[in-house]
Amino acid sequence: MKLYVLNGPNLNLLGVREPDIYGKQTYGELVRRIEAHAKELGVEVECRQTNHEGVLVDWIHEAYEKKIDGIVINPAAYTHTSIALLDALKATGTPTIEVHISDVDAREPFRRMSYLRPACRMCIAGHGLDGYLEAMDLLVLPQIGERVCK
Ligand code: DQA
Repeated sequence: MKLYVLNGPNLNLLGVREPDIYGKQTYGELVRRIEAHAKELGVEVECRQTNHEGVLVDWIHEAYEKKIDGIVINPAAYTHTSIALLDALKATGTPTIEVHISDVDAREPFRRMSYLRPACRMCIAGHGLDGYLEAMDLLVLPQIGERVCK
């Protein structure tokens, strides 16, 4: 089994970026935690980050072409703007879980809107970096089928 963990814009700046909201751990530390967790679960994982919307679209297509079993995606600000990412997920159908480090529903009203959510099995928000590991667990467990938000 192989998972992609895809991160959108500004998440390369974790640790530096608004640490009161996103914490003090860096993107590199996040990747190490995800890779260690994948080892524990006995699955392969590939972590990627980009600041470009079209690159995320290409990676979602690639996940489909390479028969990747699941995607964990933190689309960052593109969550609130990107019909292209919604369409890519709907077109390809790879089981996907949306993750946000912060509790997006408790912040500015514009962060409550997610274009991607209808194409995701679940959304985990406000669990910090642990949310990525929880999403991996849920993709690896066979019984997940229903879409439940938060
Ligand atoms: C975020 C929340 C988004 O609203 C924001 O634009 C981000 C990060 C999160 O992980 O909490 O860049 O996705």
